[in-house]
Amino acid sequence: MFKIGVLGAGSMGSGIAQVAAQCGHPVILCDTNAAQLDNAKISLAKTLEKLVEKAKITAAESQAMQQRISYANSIQDFSACDLIIEAIIENLEIKKTVFSQLESIVSETCILASNTSSLSIASIASACKNPQRVIGIHFFNPAPLMPLVEIIPAVQTSDASTKTSRDLVDSWKKVTVLAKDTPGFIVNRVARPFYGEALRIYEEGIADFATIDWAMTELGGFKMGPFTLMDYIGNDVNYAVTESVFTSFYYDPRYKPSLTQKRHAEAGWFGRKSGRGYYSYAKDALSPEPKKDLKLAEQIFNRVLVMLINEAADAVFLNIASVKDVDLAMTKGVNYPKGLLQWANELGIDKVLEQLDALYNEYREDRYRASVLLRRKVQSGQGF
Ligand SMILES: NC(=O)c1ccc[n+]([C@@H]2O[C@H](COP(=O)([O-])OP(=O)(O)OC[C@H]3O[C@@H](n4cnc5c(N)ncnc54)[C@H](O)[C@@H]3O)[C@@H](O)[C@H]2O)c1
Repeated sequence: MFKIGVLGAGSMGSGIAQVAAQCGHPVILCDTNAAQLDNAKISLAKTLEKLVEKAKITAAESQAMQQRISYANSIQDFSACDLIIEAIIENLEIKKTVFSQLESIVSETCILASNTSSLSIASIASACKNPQRVIGIHFFNPAPLMPLVEIIPAVQTSDASTKTSRDLVDSWKKVTVLAKDTPGFIVNRVARPFYGEALRIYEEGIADFATIDWAMTELGGFKMGPFTLMDYIGNDVNYAVTESVFTSFYYDPRYKPSLTQKRHAEAGWFGRKSGRGYYSYAKDALSPEPKKDLKLAEQIFNRVLVMLINEAADAVFLNIASVKDVDLAMTKGVNYPKGLLQWANELGIDKVLEQLDALYNEYREDRYRASVLLRRKVQSGQGF
């Protein structure tokens, strides 16, 4: 049984430790902040207690799981680990330093993985003498509940490290997808228009937040509308991801961040966590009523959806991932009601292209350029 080390006991690290322990692995959870380790231990005990109450696991299983996790405040304790998953602060220089320290402690065969959401795995791997053992293993929040895990080999990663990592995470009953080491990997790249196009529609004065959210949930079947979701994620966090994807793609206008979101973040209107975002979360706050105009809702939903499909098609075009993995990633990582490329097939890819071309002709902005793959598929009469 692989011995797993998890570095960083924050929201992600503690969730990943729980997943590995639930699957029978001995786990060492390490954090330099002692209070954070205590919190992780207490919150895991509470989570497992609830699972026992709901009869999802037995009290004995809960106890065994807790015993499988040991807590450490120094990475020296990782010396006997076979795989280490790093989930510390999202800062490249700090991650590189940590990876080079880890390499000096672990065995030659230990795989070193990062749970980074946005940093280049190649850069992190470059800090190691043996970069072939470094890989991205990207979980989604909350890790015990979200089925998706993106497996991201860097250019330096060996096939053996990729296979071992993927087989292992598959054995944790997760849905793994293989993604190229490019900004946002699959999910954080393909999902950008869900936020960006919704913000743009608002900025043009086409509809307010509540109406856009209503269009996407009512017509699209999305669990949350974009503004409710951005308030949930936090406008500071969501804006930072968009900005990082935008700059990493050499300022491609498709990923241009929104000033509306920037101002909300600057104002401290982060969303749920600060009590106010696009909506107010005060106790006595009234939910704004959407304008329930079906024609308007259709216009909003179609515009966001074709932009999402275009992004998914382009990810396939640029070999970021396969059609199957792009669709799996969006349904299993962010709960989309349907895979975007399957959706395109159902709508008719010619209709999708027509709408994108209409947007492009109207705005004359590169943001609306259709993916070459979509155009080729329409020309050849094939679907995805
Ligand atoms: N939060 C998310 O939704 C999410 C989703 C997927 C991936 N990620 C990625 O996972 C990583 C962690 O994110 P998080 O949200 O859990 O952060 P967090 O702030 O909740 O936790 C980070 C933890 O790392 C610890 N830490 C920082 N530097 C350390 C060091 N040098 N050694 C040991 N411990 C250290 C901190 O004390 C803290 O407990 C980041 O790379 C993030 O991009 C986050």
